[in-house]
Amino acid sequence: MKIGVLLSGQGSNLQAIIDRIKEGFLPVEIALVLSDNPKAYGLKRAEAAGIKARYIAPGPYRTILSPEAEEIYITALKEAEVELVCLAGFMRVIKKKMLDAFPGKIINIHPSLLPAFPGLEAWKQALDYGVRFSGCTVHFVEAGVDTGPIILQAVVPVLEDDTAETLLNRIHEKEHIIYPLAIKLFAQGKLKISGRRVIIQETKNLEEEWVTRNALNEDKKSETG
Ligand code: GRF
Repeated sequence: MKIGVLLSGQGSNLQAIIDRIKEGFLPVEIALVLSDNPKAYGLKRAEAAGIKARYIAPGPYRTILSPEAEEIYITALKEAEVELVCLAGFMRVIKKKMLDAFPGKIINIHPSLLPAFPGLEAWKQALDYGVRFSGCTVHFVEAGVDTGPIILQAVVPVLEDDTAETLLNRIHEKEHIIYPLAIKLFAQGKLKISGRRVIIQETKNLEEEWVTRNALNEDKKSETG
């Protein structure tokens, strides 16, 4: 299955997806990476991995694509035969035209346990609010901001001495596990939307994979000290 990744910045989630594909965990091909920011480091990561990557000017608005720009994004994704659009730090709200062009085929990763703390700098919102647990969420994208049916979530405890930066770093570690996993489940046709709920078929295997991925993550951490 061909996927497209839209990003605006660092692209650490793109990197996680690239790495999981290389490891043979994720049976998809990244056909195209698009960015609304010409300086996005994610574009460099894509190029380094030999993936077609393009900056497309977003138009004059700050939080959405202009209708003309949206059309160009859609055409580029369609021409690349993308069957799943993965938003990975794309700092624009997706509007109806693109949602209609890829119905049920756009997903996003958000750095909080939705529906808590939608919007910008969710990890800071969580810290300021004083919650004991935060985390991250992969969800289908719909017209609202960070409101679509939830595919996967991972919990990250908030520690007494956490700063916004330390908390975000630990949330990112979990993002890099659950985003590739959610894409894999989509690619395998294991996700079914039922109202607000996403039914995941073969939950047993999912749990096995989840445990394995977490174990790998723990291994990596202990290797690096
Ligand atoms: C992530 O924290 C993601 O949850 C949010 O934007 C950030 C993107 O980070 N939507 P990166 O560009 O993948 O490093």
